[in-house]
Amino acid sequence: MPVPIIIDCDPGHDDALAIMLAAGDPAVDLLAITTVAGNQTLAKTTLNARRVCTLAGIADVPIAAGCDRPLVEPLKVADDVHGTSGLDGPQFPEPTVDVVPEHAVDLIHRILTSHPEPVTLVPTAPLTNIALLLTRYPDAAARIREIVLMGGSTERGNRTPAAEFNVQADPEAADIVFRSGVPVTMCGLNVTHQALATPEVVARFNDMGTDLGRTCAELLTFYASTYRELWGFQDPPLHDPVAVARVIDPKIVHCVDANVVVELHGRYTRGATVVDLHRYMDRPVNAQAAITLEADLFWDRMVAAVATLGGRKG
Ligand code: RIB
Ligand code: CA
Repeated sequence: MPVPIIIDCDPGHDDALAIMLAAGDPAVDLLAITTVAGNQTLAKTTLNARRVCTLAGIADVPIAAGCDRPLVEPLKVADDVHGTSGLDGPQFPEPTVDVVPEHAVDLIHRILTSHPEPVTLVPTAPLTNIALLLTRYPDAAARIREIVLMGGSTERGNRTPAAEFNVQADPEAADIVFRSGVPVTMCGLNVTHQALATPEVVARFNDMGTDLGRTCAELLTFYASTYRELWGFQDPPLHDPVAVARVIDPKIVHCVDANVVVELHGRYTRGATVVDLHRYMDRPVNAQAAITLEADLFWDRMVAAVATLGGRKG
């Protein structure tokens, strides 16, 4: 039976492919897509989600916009990585898929309380919507199967030396999520940096001969240029689909027990995830920390999902 999921995202090049993986792989049932400010403003991340769904033929999944700024931290978008539109590179057709009028948090809550089984939340962005959900609707937690998020790191950051973008963008929100008691799996930079979009991967998308395959190749080519310029990566890490892949097949992403706390006050470390893999702090396990990616299995599922969606459009 496919696992019911909701993606909360800030498209964002890697978010775009995470949406496609979730919509195209039969192991998950994508119930909704919600958007939040992060990589770009809420208006742009929401428009981008609509663009991706239009191009990929994802017409039956509700899209709802959420919070337009973090709980406390001022919004600082990642236009250096994702460009002015948030999805620079390809040209997208005018979106024909629209948003639903509900706030993202209300849509998630409505689905959680009406779906026949608990739902997995897959946040691939700052955790503002998820923190607001848990705070506004305390009954929601019992209806969440688990939260499998892209964010944090067992090692260094990518927004500051200590903090990863999604957590650093809204540390208070991340703190609420990790303290919530809801089962959390953290797919941090330490594992997502194993999902490198090499030229061979880009060729697999181009060789599909579909508009969607070509667009994925163009997205990855732009994304590679900014990652090369900013961090000297030869090939860019495709962060967000790793969280979806963990839900699709846990064998693709190997995890271990951990205690994760979010640093809120450190002068130089605010937004860091402090991941205790060895019980140094004698604190309870509150998360699964992703450590190893089966990269070949990951790319096979990613490419197959895009082929499935693209094949529907020819
Ligand atoms: O640090 C990587 C994360 O920040 C990814 O989710 C990317 O889309 C950006 O939001
Ligand atoms: Ca993201």
